[in-house]
Amino acid sequence: MAFLCCAMLVMLMGFGSANATEELDYGGIPLWINRLQGEPTVMSLQGRLDPVWFRSNNPRSCPQLCDCPIQWPTALYCDHRGLTNVPDNLPNRTQYLFLQANNITSLSSSALANITALHWLILDNNQLQSNQLEQNSLQNHTHLHYFFANNNHLTSVPSALPVGLKQLRLAHNQISSISPGAFKNLKNLTLLLLQGNRLQTLTEGDFTGLGSLNLLDLSGNLFSAVPRHLPPSVQQLYLSNNSLTGLDEDSFEGLLDLKYLRMSHCGLQNPNVHRQVFNFSSLVELDLSYNKLTTVPRVPTTLQYFYLEANAIQEFNVTSFCREVGPLSYSRIKILRLDGNKMSYQQLPPDWVFCLRVLQRIYI
Ligand SMILES: *[C@@H]1O[C@H](CO)[C@@H](O)[C@H](O)[C@H]1NC(C)=O
Ligand SMILES: *[C@@H]1O[C@H](CO)[C@@H](O)[C@H](O)[C@H]1NC(C)=O
Ligand SMILES: *[C@@H]1O[C@H](CO)[C@@H](O)[C@H](O)[C@H]1NC(C)=O
Ligand SMILES: *[C@@H]1O[C@H](CO)[C@@H](O)[C@H](O)[C@H]1NC(C)=O
Ligand SMILES: *[C@@H]1O[C@H](CO)[C@@H](O)[C@H](O)[C@H]1NC(C)=O
Ligand SMILES: *[C@@H]1O[C@H](CO)[C@@H](O)[C@H](O)[C@H]1NC(C)=O
Ligand SMILES: *[C@@H]1O[C@H](CO)[C@@H](O)[C@H](O)[C@H]1NC(C)=O
Ligand SMILES: *[C@@H]1O[C@H](CO)[C@@H](O)[C@H](O)[C@H]1NC(C)=O
Repeated sequence: MAFLCCAMLVMLMGFGSANATEELDYGGIPLWINRLQGEPTVMSLQGRLDPVWFRSNNPRSCPQLCDCPIQWPTALYCDHRGLTNVPDNLPNRTQYLFLQANNITSLSSSALANITALHWLILDNNQLQSNQLEQNSLQNHTHLHYFFANNNHLTSVPSALPVGLKQLRLAHNQISSISPGAFKNLKNLTLLLLQGNRLQTLTEGDFTGLGSLNLLDLSGNLFSAVPRHLPPSVQQLYLSNNSLTGLDEDSFEGLLDLKYLRMSHCGLQNPNVHRQVFNFSSLVELDLSYNKLTTVPRVPTTLQYFYLEANAIQEFNVTSFCREVGPLSYSRIKILRLDGNKMSYQQLPPDWVFCLRVLQRIYI
């Protein structure tokens, strides 16, 4: 019992410093809510807390179809209920609204109009349709930081998104177009997930306005070339599972901060990959696994993680990693994967150790 009291106290103190939740926002885990349960996620109460307990203890109003944990009065859990609509009469204290895994097809502008303090809106795994998403339904929610609608039936990126958004997750929809100006005012957006959609090309204005975008996931779309006009702030660019015909010398031009680049399962072949395409010194991680490369492309000496497994590589030339070898000119590669290729350890040239001086692991 004494232990339980202390645990409660810790929990309540955690809540007392409510501003701390803001700092813990990234990735969505205010840790104090699950200390007792040890659950890794805050997204759902399913199977974690007995609803009877907080329903009978909670003096606050709570929509019948939702759960309102007393430890976190600003959160409203309405997930996994088979709901076909956003419930009515949502309490205006709601800042974190969990509606994932329901059968919601539409979002009207009135549905959320009363909860103006909304920070997170989680609608993953529903059946939202673009033509039933009322244009201005989110526009006025200036505190909305996270909008998640992965695994829905959207066919375009919604327009009139609220200006305060930090994360927009729209993976695994059927998105083939981006509404004009959709991202125009989203200066604070750092993460944009669009993997598993049907995008083929991007036009020049599509990403205009995304001045802080850090991570952009475009994997599993229908791109045949690296899209142009990507925001220059991008540091993590994921393009795996697109059938790319090749890479040009300037495919990544203008992306001066690009550190993590993933292009596995892209059908890349040597003659179509320009020798200089990776010659930019910001690069830290490069994933070219599961392609059809026969030689190792040239990479900058700054690269630390290089994934080339499951290609058809037959030869290994140290000049791919080091243009010259000297006291300060050597490759920073720590991990190199060459397994699943057509070469063996014995085929490494004798001089490779002078170039790959800080290598921690090689798979071959
Ligand atoms: C919700 O959708 C699932 C899967 O599409 C379906 O099996 C289920 O019957 C639907 N439930 C309701 C209440 O519509
Ligand atoms: C919003 O609040 C008004 C006034 O309290 C109420 O009439 C209306 O039904 C509420 N809307 C929703 C969707 O809950
Ligand atoms: C919520 O609504 C009540 C009355 O309906 C009002 O007194 C209160 O100020 C509102 N709170 C917010 C955060 O809007
Ligand atoms: C958004 O705010 C504007 C100005 O306050 C208002 O005219 C408009 O009706 C609001 N839209 C919605 C969907 O609430
Ligand atoms: C963007 O973030 C900054 C810093 O957190 C904040 O001051 C600003 O109000 C935000 N802009 C919008 C439109 O929310
Ligand atoms: C790409 O497709 C492969 C094979 O279908 C799959 O195993 C892998 O998880 C996918 N990767 C990404 C990043 O989508
Ligand atoms: C790589 O780019 C730098 C400038 O960024 C250039 O000086 C250098 O010659 C290029 N490397 C090769 C091998 O062309
Ligand atoms: C490695 O590449 C350099 C420059 O492309 C070339 O001069 C050299 O002959 C190659 N070495 C081997 C062993 O193929």
